[in-house]
Amino acid sequence: MRGYLVAGNWKMNGSNAANAALVDGILAGAPATDQVELLVCPPFPYLAQVAQMVDGSRVMLGAQNVSVHESGAYTGETAGSMLADVGCSHIIVGHSERRALYGENSDIVAEKFRAAQSAGLTPILCVGETLEEREAGRTERVIDEQLDAALGAAGIAAFASAVIAYEPVWAIGTGMTATPEQAQDVHRHIRARLEAEDAGIAAGIRILYGGSVKGDNAGGLFSNPDIDGGLIGGASLKPADFLAIADAAAALV
Ligand code: PGA
Repeated sequence: MRGYLVAGNWKMNGSNAANAALVDGILAGAPATDQVELLVCPPFPYLAQVAQMVDGSRVMLGAQNVSVHESGAYTGETAGSMLADVGCSHIIVGHSERRALYGENSDIVAEKFRAAQSAGLTPILCVGETLEEREAGRTERVIDEQLDAALGAAGIAAFASAVIAYEPVWAIGTGMTATPEQAQDVHRHIRARLEAEDAGIAAGIRILYGGSVKGDNAGGLFSNPDIDGGLIGGASLKPADFLAIADAAAALV
């Protein structure tokens, strides 16, 4: 039983005051089952603030990016060991906004995947196709290329302590959610790709769906056999919206 993971990617949103209200609300309403894990990923300056607030609770802390380097003269970068030091357990790597806006190709993402793991953190590896790629029938090829880069760099064993997030680029922040069938098809493909390497690891890994997940579509997505939760952007910024998604997962366990 993999259980669900509902992860909030706050992106570049928040303030001391807004974060305090958001985390208070999440802590007050988090579902009681240990089959639904919650994770919040605030911007770097607020990691320590949120770490203090979630300390001792069942809500986990993650970061949105990590340096490929361990330490040294890399102005503006943040090492995995630093993120672990301030209380992170997870790191999002390869989000499509990083790929599209900051030039992170699959090789850089694979290095970040490895950097997260060498710091003892669980990477959440994001993969997903653009609308143009989907319409050209290239969805699976694009996903394979993104997965294979991380598999090649880190090896299948690394996926025993990793999470994958399938995030079709056309569904992110657009209100155009993938249908449960579209999402399940790609999730099955991803799990099958890993199965070919190691059936046990494929069976154990959580594959999240991301892209306009809301309280009213989460249940339909999460009820599919290969969808193990969500990576949530817009709907992770209000306690009621985020908790509605967590509750949809809790209703399925
Ligand atoms: P969204 O973002 O939920 O706002 O579509 C998802 C993501 O980018 O992780």
